[in-house]
Amino acid sequence: MTAPTRSHPELTPDHAATVRATLPAIGAAIDEITTVFYRTLFSAHPDLRRDLFNRGNQAQGSQPRALAASIAAFATYLVDPALPHPAAMLARIGHKHASLGITAEQYQVVHDNLFAAIVEVLGAEVVTAPVAEAWDRVYWLMADALIDLEKRLYIDAGVQPGQVWRAVTVIERTDDPAGPAVFRVRAVDPAEELPGFVAGQYISVGVRLTDGARQLRQYSLIGAAGDGTLTFAVKRVAAAPGCPAGEVSSWLHERVGTGDRLEISLPFGDLTIDPDATTPLVLVSAGIGVTPMVGILEHLAAHDPGRPVTVLHADRRASEHPLRARVLALVERLDNVRTEFWYTEDTHRGRLDLTAVELPGDADVHVCGNDRFLDTARAQLRAADVPDARIHIEQFTPTDWRR
Ligand SMILES: Cc1cc2nc3c(=O)[nH]c(=O)nc-3n(C[C@H](O)[C@H](O)[C@H](O)COP(=O)(O)OP(=O)(O)OC[C@H]3O[C@@H](n4cnc5c(N)ncnc54)[C@H](O)[C@@H]3O)c2cc1C
Ligand code: HEM
Repeated sequence: MTAPTRSHPELTPDHAATVRATLPAIGAAIDEITTVFYRTLFSAHPDLRRDLFNRGNQAQGSQPRALAASIAAFATYLVDPALPHPAAMLARIGHKHASLGITAEQYQVVHDNLFAAIVEVLGAEVVTAPVAEAWDRVYWLMADALIDLEKRLYIDAGVQPGQVWRAVTVIERTDDPAGPAVFRVRAVDPAEELPGFVAGQYISVGVRLTDGARQLRQYSLIGAAGDGTLTFAVKRVAAAPGCPAGEVSSWLHERVGTGDRLEISLPFGDLTIDPDATTPLVLVSAGIGVTPMVGILEHLAAHDPGRPVTVLHADRRASEHPLRARVLALVERLDNVRTEFWYTEDTHRGRLDLTAVELPGDADVHVCGNDRFLDTARAQLRAADVPDARIHIEQFTPTDWRR
């Protein structure tokens, strides 16, 4: 395996030809490669599985799929620069990495284990020296793009690379009638006051579970920004056949109350609104996917109550609609708002159908909900001729960029 070369901004023609020729073989095996990658990475570095990666996503296979899809998408772009630059994908990954405190040095260990996995799966006869060298270049082009992005995010946050964690005290816990626990937190150290954020961003929350693992999860910010506190709402993920109860959400529900301490990251997240724009917003959510929309409504109520906004939410019934009272109170403070709640069991409207809703032509549409809801909403918005650039989808599980 050649040493990484990190100075080339793009693939040389030779490397591009090699990547193009081997993309089908690597693309076809990429899921197997990332599965082997995580297995070898975690057996060499068990602390990464225990304390950094989300073991729920590993158990479900969603993180290996997301990693595989992102590398395949990036390589496809490199050999066909006529394709749109995968900026949205890099931003999504970079913000997630920053919210976990990932640093440039960690990219080498991921590289070494990924390339060992490629050789293990495809064999040394396929992964010849020129093939390894070309893919090495692909890896470092992607890694360098992410490292640069993350470096800028840390500078913007005013911290040293990776130094994103803050000890906080829960100054208030309330329980929403539909289930979520709402936590408002403030820095333990007054010298480290929590910063503001842009509506739509999230924090990572870290908890030390009973088996000693430190698990991290993301939660969207729902409170007003800039008063030194941050507020987030956690749905308890209940056990279902074949699926254990969610580890961190259960822990937060069962053990954390007013006065308790937590570890959180500074706010990150790219699916924000443009606070300076005057164009209409359409907020589409289902279930706990309401949380980023509440953050956006908080911002509008405080700073921009005249901006046109359509609020659409889907749930089974009003009593299961998370943060419903909070949404209604915020909507009251807006001057130019249309609200439609679609409840499958309380009303006879059926499921939310975006093709049946009048959407302003120049609106930015923010969507959040479970994966099936997102797929349906994306298809309906495309059918309604909303351009992809105006569709902003927040997904609570790792994004598979092949979908
Ligand atoms: C950007 C972003 C913002 C988010 N905002 C919010 C928010 O505002 N509010 C909110 O409540 N959530 C939010 N989430 C989701 C949140 O981060 C967590 O994913 C959620 O709380 C579940 O975490 P958990 O530890 O409780 O569940 P996990 O333990 O991670 O489990 C997740 C799922 O995996 C399944 N699973 C775990 N292990 C196995 C196994 N061995 N076999 C089969 N299935 C398994 C579980 O049954 C469960 O269905 C957000 C996520 C992201 C990425
Ligand atoms: C070029 C190299 C890398 C690529 C292409 C990559 C890609 C990805 C992708 C696609 C995601 C999912 C984002 C989403 O939520 O949709 C992700 C998350 C993550 N990455 Fe990376 N990553 C790289 C390097 C690293 C490094 C060096 C580390 C640190 C060891 C790291 C740790 C993580 C962690 C902990 C998550 C969150 C996992 C989870 O929530 O399940 N990544 N990365």
